[in-house]
Amino acid sequence: MPLPRGLAPQWMELASYVIRQRRKHKDRLACSDKRLEDFLAAMQASPNGVVLMDAEDRIEWFNQTAAEHFGLDARRDAEQHFTNLVRDPLIAAYFANRDFQNSVLIAGRSLARSPAQRISVQMHVYGQSRSLLLSRDVTAIEQAESMRRDFVANVSHEIRTPLTVLGGFVETLQTLRLSDEERVRYLDLMSQQASRMQSLVDDLLTLSKLEGNPLPADFGWVQVGSLMRQCADEGRALSNLVWGRSQEIHLAFDDEDEIAGSETELHSALFNLVGNAVRYTPADKSIRVTWTAAANGQGVLTVTDQGIGIAPEHIPRLTERFYRVDRSRSRDTGGTGLGLAIVKHVLQRHDAELKIESTPGVGSSFRMVFPAHRVRVAVTRSAELVNQD
Ligand SMILES: Nc1ncnc2c1ncn2[C@@H]1O[C@H](COP(=O)(O)OP(=O)(O)OP(=O)(O)O)[C@@H](O)[C@H]1O
Ligand SMILES: [Mg+2]
Repeated sequence: MPLPRGLAPQWMELASYVIRQRRKHKDRLACSDKRLEDFLAAMQASPNGVVLMDAEDRIEWFNQTAAEHFGLDARRDAEQHFTNLVRDPLIAAYFANRDFQNSVLIAGRSLARSPAQRISVQMHVYGQSRSLLLSRDVTAIEQAESMRRDFVANVSHEIRTPLTVLGGFVETLQTLRLSDEERVRYLDLMSQQASRMQSLVDDLLTLSKLEGNPLPADFGWVQVGSLMRQCADEGRALSNLVWGRSQEIHLAFDDEDEIAGSETELHSALFNLVGNAVRYTPADKSIRVTWTAAANGQGVLTVTDQGIGIAPEHIPRLTERFYRVDRSRSRDTGGTGLGLAIVKHVLQRHDAELKIESTPGVGSSFRMVFPAHRVRVAVTRSAELVNQD
């Protein structure tokens, strides 16, 4: 602001002093506005919900995450009482008790989410009874915890069943006088239960190894043809055991095609699929194992059977640990329900995917789709594939 002319020098000095002070004050205000803005921007960027409240629990400010957690609207809800907006009996009790040492767990507002959202909320009082409320989405943690509980319950159940049966047989052998024939029969049944437990423990160890470690870096190229031949031979042997005769297992592949990965793991995945096909397909029906390299470079290893098939509602859950369509039937055939969980893990480690198609009463097809960077086709055929493109 220019100074008026003709003022006495002492007034001029005073006036310019006032102007300088006003400018400084303005600069200071701008600076603290900027600081507040930065501070709020930092809270806005927080992955946790933040709500600032006055001494009467009226909302002063909240970030976008809190808006999502509690279904708040920045324009509508400022200065409202928090408990009037978030109508949850747990929140009401938490605020009424004013004991904020622990957090409280409530259902999130976003109804569309599956699994249902779970939010952990905790108040922190600061300054003169003002409060800061923090919220955190703990859905994934809760879900992992519930999966862990289910897993422990399942493992205990699966181990307890054969143990109870074994215990019963031991007691029978101890207390009853049995003929030689009966003894042999009982010992046979006991050995079946023991091997059931053995295969359960083996599968669990395989799973924990797959989960705990990354794929070894020194993997090589695995010949698909020899892998398929080996699994088919083992499948025929299993078929003899299960059905007393060998089912037909047809193979179709190119001898020189290869997949980059761990041979043991790929063998375990393919044999799990072949084993299932054998067990869920009647003895007089056949099984096909095929390998095709597509023009886009992907490789697909498919096991197709003409077995009992699977109803569509079960298909998305088949790779869950211990999931069996028909528990008693699967148990009769020696299954623990871990096979497809192992397959899924192996495939994830090889950047591959499992695709399942099935029609009850007609048969199933399990396809393992490998990405181009893990597939190497025979040199002569790679030219053919490019020409088809
Ligand atoms: N080829 C198939 N035909 C019909 N049902 C199948 C087939 N493969 C799997 N299933 C169903 O999927 C379920 C899960 O298969 P998975 O291989 O994980 O377990 P399992 O065969 O019962 O036991 P495990 O493989 O651990 O010995 C099976 O119990 C069965 O109900
Ligand atoms: Mg299986």
